[in-house]
Amino acid sequence: MKQKMTGKKAAITGASSGIGRATALRMAKEGADVALIARNRERLEEVAALVRAEGRKAVIIEADITDAESVKKAVRTAIEELGGLDVFHCNAGIYLRCPAKDLTMEQIREVMEADYFGCLNCVYAVLPYFMNQKSGSIIATCSMDSKKGVPPDAAYVGAKFAINGFLQVLRQELRGTGVHVGMIFPARIDTPMIDNVDCPKITPKIEPDTVAKAVIKAYLKKKKEITVPYFSCHLLTWADAISPSLSDWLVRVNKLSGEDNGSNTAK
Ligand SMILES: NC(=O)c1ccc[n+]([C@@H]2O[C@H](COP(=O)([O-])OP(=O)(O)OC[C@H]3O[C@@H](n4cnc5c(N)ncnc54)[C@H](OP(=O)(O)O)[C@@H]3O)[C@@H](O)[C@H]2O)c1
Repeated sequence: MKQKMTGKKAAITGASSGIGRATALRMAKEGADVALIARNRERLEEVAALVRAEGRKAVIIEADITDAESVKKAVRTAIEELGGLDVFHCNAGIYLRCPAKDLTMEQIREVMEADYFGCLNCVYAVLPYFMNQKSGSIIATCSMDSKKGVPPDAAYVGAKFAINGFLQVLRQELRGTGVHVGMIFPARIDTPMIDNVDCPKITPKIEPDTVAKAVIKAYLKKKKEITVPYFSCHLLTWADAISPSLSDWLVRVNKLSGEDNGSNTAK
């Protein structure tokens, strides 16, 4: 069977877990070599072993996305070790589940550092290389939370709306340069990030491989935005465009916030 990513070189942040891990494995199955970026070396080693079992190259890079220098070094290493780069998946992030009235500014800044500035550290580290080669895709894992804010995710929603807005502008400014910006908007995905959230039947947790496939589709078809899943996410966005009261009501009656099943901490 023809592999979709044969000969391609990809770097993925947050590759030690969840969506990043699934994307690394899916990319490898489709023929790509991958640079795996995150902080936890042990977990990166496990993912690298699975990538190599697919016959592809895996480069392990320990880096913290909140540290711009660490990210620049990671991008340089990825390009050197892979011999180039075609796609950079800005995926690493953290989640904080806490009602807005109880948040501290410190907590809000922490989420912003990872989910907004952390993503931008990656964008600014890889953009000059892609501009110079006049090709390359920056694909970000945003969230349905960057289309419609759902309680009690205010800190996370704020950061995800911010990155959504920034990348919308960037993709328009990069038109004609050969550099593509794609955004993925997943709903609830079955990863360690939301182990503490039980979801209603109407929005069950989806396998991370579904998001991984969307990342590859965004890269191959130069898609601007992909929502996962398509229908329920679009329904909420359309409802919000018609009336915020309607979309608030849909969130409420469908219990889209889910239920805490234990800890209430940032991961
Ligand atoms: N799960 C969902 O329902 C869902 C829905 C929509 C969007 N998303 C988004 O999808 C992305 C991936 O989340 P996930 O669900 O796969 O969560 P996850 O399983 O908790 O994985 C998060 C990844 O981010 C990495 N990470 C966190 N902070 C980092 C930092 N400062 N520097 C480098 N790496 C860091 C973690 O690696 P280390 O700890 O090893 O550094 C880990 O690999 C996030 O941007 C998240 O907001 C998730």
